Amino acid sequence: MSEMKVRVREIRQEAIDVKSFVLVDAGGATLPSFSCGSHIDVNVGGVVRQYSLCNVAGGSDHYRIAVKREPESRGGSRLLHDDVHVDDVLIVSAPRNNFELDRDAGHTLLLAGGIGITPLLSMATTLKSAGASFQLQYFTRSIAHTAFHEELSRPDLAEQVTFHYALEPSGLKAYLRKLLWHHDAGAHLYLCGPRPFMDLVQDTAAATWPPENVHLEYFAADSQSLAGPQQAFDVRLARSGKSCRVDEGQSIVQALLALGIEVPTSCEQGVCGTCLTGVLAGTPDHRDVVLSDEERAAGDKIMPCVSRARSSSITLDL
Ligand code: FES
Repeated sequence: MSEMKVRVREIRQEAIDVKSFVLVDAGGATLPSFSCGSHIDVNVGGVVRQYSLCNVAGGSDHYRIAVKREPESRGGSRLLHDDVHVDDVLIVSAPRNNFELDRDAGHTLLLAGGIGITPLLSMATTLKSAGASFQLQYFTRSIAHTAFHEELSRPDLAEQVTFHYALEPSGLKAYLRKLLWHHDAGAHLYLCGPRPFMDLVQDTAAATWPPENVHLEYFAADSQSLAGPQQAFDVRLARSGKSCRVDEGQSIVQALLALGIEVPTSCEQGVCGTCLTGVLAGTPDHRDVVLSDEERAAGDKIMPCVSRARSSSITLDL
């Protein structure tokens, strides 16, 4: 994966526990262009995390990310908040996109919960610049917890952006039921936020929205998606002809590494899509949150950093 050195040009406190970082090429070059919904890997002191780009998509002299300091941070958000300063140089990947915006949608509804605003901010400002029909509904605990509140309160966005503060789960449920009940044919729904928020929106939308028009991005896998039986199975590699056993509690990526075969990885949590690998035979047991239901059903791809096999062996396109 291509890596780039970027310099931190600006850091802003956007809300309680949320800082944004503007990154520019360390050598002054133009950065690769990106589409709405893209993320980059950011390497801070050897810890690699994925962050959505939240500036207007397209060719750019900078990338902007926003990072929430997580109390149970495994290092990424804590290091960025505490140890990264203006003019520091970081290593980042080129942008990748698992959350593409359909620019031909008749209408786009964006639902953000908390820091889930980051990819949706890029979508909202890009759609605004293009004069497209969209609405952004942004759910947070309070104004003080609302990153980019000032930016999204621009008068020209007043009819398209709605803020909601401290909605109780029952109130949120009732509001979503009403909001999602009617929609134009051809409308697309994008959601990003904490897992309970995503589950609630998805369940509510399922009653009336075609699944192919609902798009979501998770920040992290949770115990629900990673849970499941851990029995051992065999992995065969079609191209190299090698094979190995994946033991209980071991990932396919780890088993292949012991065989001297390195699968490119980044998050190792089943959320970024970096390790995507073709499946030629056998039945995958998907534990990631990247593949859609259709892709899962097709059974021809797997995220080997977390997913396993239901069959006694699985053949990969490696
Ligand atoms: S490394 Fe991110 S999904 Fe596997």
